[in-house]
Amino acid sequence: MSNPDFSAPKPFGPLRSFGRVRGRALSDRQEQLFETLFPRVSIPAEPAHGLDPSHWMPSAEAIVFEIGFGGAEHLIGQAERHPNHLFLGAEPFQEGVAKALVGIEDRGLTNVRLSASDARPVLQALKPASLDKLVVLFPDPWHKAKHNKRRLIQTAFLDDAHKALKLGGELRFATDWADYAAWTLEKVTQHGGFEWQAEMAADWRTPPDDHITTRYEIKKLGDCAPIFLRFTARPRGL
Ligand SMILES: C[S@@+](CC[C@H](N)C(=O)[O-])C[C@H]1O[C@@H](n2cnc3c(N)ncnc32)[C@H](O)[C@@H]1O
Repeated sequence: MSNPDFSAPKPFGPLRSFGRVRGRALSDRQEQLFETLFPRVSIPAEPAHGLDPSHWMPSAEAIVFEIGFGGAEHLIGQAERHPNHLFLGAEPFQEGVAKALVGIEDRGLTNVRLSASDARPVLQALKPASLDKLVVLFPDPWHKAKHNKRRLIQTAFLDDAHKALKLGGELRFATDWADYAAWTLEKVTQHGGFEWQAEMAADWRTPPDDHITTRYEIKKLGDCAPIFLRFTARPRGL
């Protein structure tokens, strides 16, 4: 289908930036979980190429990577719902990682692995075709034109995503910034290795059936209602 017009004029909200990795001081319990649990569930920040996530859970029926999981509501909620799936999450914001650690301990999860830094070196290092799903929910919008280049969705990122995903695997993206939705659609279309799963407007306006709403999403900081873009990895150039 032709590219839709996602725009809807509304005031801009404040930005969260990748630069802010520390927020409030951690609680004693969170500090302790960083010392005890984190080393057991952590993904190396700069892993060697060929990283095979199935080593962490050989019985995993699917492997999902969530980039920029924020407060971890979606990551932990999905991991609890799907104990037979392995969930990788990357988030440089320390408080977010602390929340994920609390979620893992409270719910007794054994199917989560965490990176407390930039997801991109991890994505790049993953063994080809190791992921069933890559999830990017409400990434930092960087909506000023001069800052667009800081957006997570770039051609190089899509190259790495395409390599890491199995053919038929899903790239799931959500934003409440109309321009970021249009940007992503354009970059993904230009890439040529993904097929957009939408057939009608309801397909991008309606959250996927298994979506878990995050606290960030509820704040509605963007300039439009949430837009969900789902793509399937396919051989490039089809
Ligand atoms: C706007 S927040 C959204 C958080 C969450 N996805 C949600 O929907 O609630 C974007 C998050 O992406 C994280 N982030 C930004 N760049 C990243 C990167 N290169 N790797 C991993 N996380 C990143 C930020 O730290 C921030 O927590």
